[in-house]
Order: sequence, then C-alpha cells, then structure tokens
Amino acid sequence: MLKNKVALITGGSRGIGRAIALEMAGNGADVAVIYWGNKALADTVCETARTFGVRALPYCCDVADFALTEAIVKRICEDFGTIDILVNNASITKDKLIMQMNEEEFDSVLKVNLKGTFNMIKAVSRLFLKKRSGRIINITSVSGMMGNAGQANYSAAKAGVIGLTKTTAKELASRGITCNAIAPGFIKTDMTDALPEDVKSAACSMIPMRQMGEPGDVAALALFLASDAAKYITGEIIKVDGGLYI
Ligand SMILES: NC(=O)c1ccc[n+]([C@@H]2O[C@H](COP(=O)([O-])OP(=O)(O)OC[C@H]3O[C@@H](n4cnc5c(N)ncnc54)[C@H](O)[C@@H]3O)[C@@H](O)[C@H]2O)c1
Repeated sequence: MLKNKVALITGGSRGIGRAIALEMAGNGADVAVIYWGNKALADTVCETARTFGVRALPYCCDVADFALTEAIVKRICEDFGTIDILVNNASITKDKLIMQMNEEEFDSVLKVNLKGTFNMIKAVSRLFLKKRSGRIINITSVSGMMGNAGQANYSAAKAGVIGLTKTTAKELASRGITCNAIAPGFIKTDMTDALPEDVKSAACSMIPMRQMGEPGDVAALALFLASDAAKYITGEIIKVDGGLYI
C-alpha cells in the first residue's frame, strides 16, 4: 500500500509508534524513526523494518526543540530523498490531580505533546507544499475529547492536537495534503503498563468491549490514512477505543 513512500514516525522506538513504523515498513514504505532516549530500541525497530526489504534509519531528536526538528527533517530528506508521510506519535505523561500538579509538569507535557506536533508539521510543511502532496497523521487521545481526572496537562495537550489537526487540514487541503488524527482509548503499551492495576481494571470495566486495544489496532488505521484509499479524508478525528467514548 505504501511502496516507494517515505514515512517519518516520531516516538517510533516502542509502543504504538513502533507498531506504526513496522506496519508501514511491512507495506513497502521506507521509515525514518525518531526516538528520544533509547537508541537500542530504535535500532531494533529499524533492523526489524529492514527485514521487509525497505530502508529504515533511527534519528535522535527531541520533538519539543523547534530548531532540532527543522535540522532533523532536513537530514531525513537528504538521507531518503523526500518525506511523504508524517506520523506525530511522540508523547509523554506526567499524571497528577490539578491540586498536586506543578508548573513544570504542565508545561513539559504541553511542550512535547502539542508544541512537538506543531514543530514537526511546520518542519515538513514547506516540502509538502512544494510537492503538492503529503499525509500528516497526529496521534491524539480520547482524553483530549472527554477529559480525564489526573491528566489536565495531557488532555489539554491532546485537545490542542485536535484543533491543530483541523487547522492544518484546512490550511493545506488545497495543495493535496491531508491531516487527520487518531484518538486511541486504552492501548496496551509501556504508557498504560505504568498505570496501577486497579486503574487498569477500572478502565477495562468502562470499555464496552471490556478489553484494552493492541498497538496494531492503531497502526492499521494509520496505514489506511496514509494510503491512497484515504486521499479524500482530511480533518477527521477517528477513535480507536473499543467504544470507550461513544
Ligand atoms: N497507550 C495508550 O493507551 C494511549 C492512549 C491514548 C493515546 N495514546 C497516544 O499514543 C501515542 C503513543 O503512545 P504509547 O503508549 O506507545 O507511548 P510510549 O510512552 O510507549 O511511547 C512514546 C514514544 O514517544 C517518544 N518520546 C517521548 N518524548 C519524546 C520527545 N521529546 N521527542 C521525541 N520522542 C519522544 C518515546 O521515546 C517513545 O518512543 C502517544 O501520542 C500517546 O499519547 C496512547
């Protein structure tokens, strides 16, 4: 589905980002994997991706750093020749009730999850406008749609990503560029593994499908949104949540 395309996935070293990178590589895309922190994990994802016969390279970059995102996008273009698909998946959590949350915990989550998404969109936008094509897929969260106690910073950032997605879609649509967002509910990854057992079982009891999703459930939708089949879909926020937020 993505033969001869180049996909850039932020936070592609593990969890949902890893699943998206491998799903796209398995469908013929060369992949540039941005990670922050664990090079060994990013190397392993790229090694696995290369078994599909595509090119795959890891890049260390803090998406919250505007100058660094510009530089890394330039380098990826030099290495791969172009970029066709941007997946903004990198994200952090610093969960606390508002009463306990300090300024740094609020600001840092906004900086990575929302500003990081803007930085990456801005960094590819000139190239996409010149090519008159491009796919942008932002990973938001149902927390950004329904709110979630203990996640004032995270849900505010993810709600911001939804506004950013719709605005990007409107600004770039006439040049053949689409921008959509995926809003996962509870998906089994390191992020949700870190939650206490009682929180996880309470979450499952609220999900009509009574179970958490798999990273592959999100990756399948990302692949579709990046493919030709989705060429007339833009500005959409699509939930992958087992019915959590109906
Ligand atoms: N797991 C869930 O249940 C769930 C639910 C809703 C939304 N999401 C969203 O899905 C996406 C992936 O979640 P996950 O569970 O796989 O998370 P994860 O914590 O397992 O992975 C996050 C990735 O982001 C990278 N990252 C963090 N800060 C970065 C930075 N400053 N610069 C570059 N990379 C950075 C990490 O290295 C890691 O690869 C996130 O956007 C998350 O908010 C996840």
